[in-house]
Amino acid sequence: MFRHKPVLLKQIIDVVPQWASTYFDWTLWHAWHTQELLSMFPDLHVVWVDKDMHMLDKASIFLGSEYADRFTLVHCPYDDFDKFITVSWIKWFDCMLLDIWVNMDHFKVAERWFSIKLEGDLDMRFDTSSWIPLKERLRKTNFDELVSLFTVYTDFWQKYREWIARDLIKYMKQHPFLSTKDVHVWAKSAWVNAKVLAILFQARRIVINDELWALERFLKVFHNYLLPSGRCCIITYHSWEDRLVKHSFKELVDKWVWLLYNKKVIKPNWKELERNKAARSAKLRIFEKT
Ligand SMILES: C[S@@+](CC[C@H](N)C(=O)[O-])C[C@H]1O[C@@H](n2cnc3c(N)ncnc32)[C@H](O)[C@@H]1O
Repeated sequence: MFRHKPVLLKQIIDVVPQWASTYFDWTLWHAWHTQELLSMFPDLHVVWVDKDMHMLDKASIFLGSEYADRFTLVHCPYDDFDKFITVSWIKWFDCMLLDIWVNMDHFKVAERWFSIKLEGDLDMRFDTSSWIPLKERLRKTNFDELVSLFTVYTDFWQKYREWIARDLIKYMKQHPFLSTKDVHVWAKSAWVNAKVLAILFQARRIVINDELWALERFLKVFHNYLLPSGRCCIITYHSWEDRLVKHSFKELVDKWVWLLYNKKVIKPNWKELERNKAARSAKLRIFEKT
């Protein structure tokens, strides 16, 4: 399994008050952040969620038995509060962490097709037990849908967005996309370079996994599950996600006189970026319920 470096680890640890006893980590993967917290705070209990069942299967291996009585694993998307409430015996938390993104395991496994560099099936779902894979979703797409998708998630010119959408639809009528190889053949024929291709398919990933709406739903309700003085850390890797978090925290602060723990967004410093290039677009915002 690929070992990645946790992003903004020190900053996440510093947010946890000494008295904290419950922590909610909404995006498990290797749980680097919260494993560190378990070792530092002997009374801390953690609930871990991940939408990707493969991550939860692996979790029991890498977590081992050391902390077995101090954590609960839940398979659900981070915006499914109803599901977590039925499964978890802890309902309110001193701290929360949402570290949204794909993880490097996703990029390394060709069949999941999060990477455009590997050859594999067109899937791209975090949760392979629900929703439909990218290759099927593409069969049902149309010009208008693609243009509006590219309008929201790319900063290409309108004419270019329309041109790409038209070319894709025309091409897929004769050559259905089944694997990454098919996508590369199209990209070559349409003179679409690797950077543009990556942006186009990041947009598709966001839609396939309902990522934008999931974050909106999360932001509407997360504070109901925070105890007084509870803190919520959100790390995002995309500017629209960060904007969403920023506005929603501000709305809560204005409405309820709660606090922004950090007035300015926190970014990794150059030392961290030297060690971990994957952190380059990370932004951390912290909310406190007073
Ligand atoms: C960047 S990783 C988290 C890394 C983690 N903080 C660590 O230290 O190892 C993001 C994780 O979020 C999961 N994920 C993505 N979208 C999700 C969603 N809507 N609900 C729950 N988990 C999600 C992914 O499967 C991935 O494992």
